[in-house]
Amino acid sequence: MTEPVRASNTPYAVDVEAGKSYWWCACGKSAKQPFCDGAHKDTGITPLKYDATETKKVYFCGCKATAKQPMCDGSHSKG
Ligand code: FES
Ligand code: FES
Repeated sequence: MTEPVRASNTPYAVDVEAGKSYWWCACGKSAKQPFCDGAHKDTGITPLKYDATETKKVYFCGCKATAKQPMCDGSHSKG
């Protein structure tokens, strides 16, 4: 299993829709951040499914170091 790549130093704000599912890129290699585009293929890392229960703006982690996947928990500003 390879370490995730830091895709961004800040989170991605996304307007999610209630009832929809989203696949968060956990490996950091997707060109369609913060979502999976299949680029994780040889990394041993798999995307994480996020089920939106509300229509609202959420912040998906871009640095891939969050402890609260797939959401940003502020870890991007630590070291
Ligand atoms: Fe990163 Fe799929 S491309 S998890
Ligand atoms: Fe990863 Fe904030 S962007 S913790």
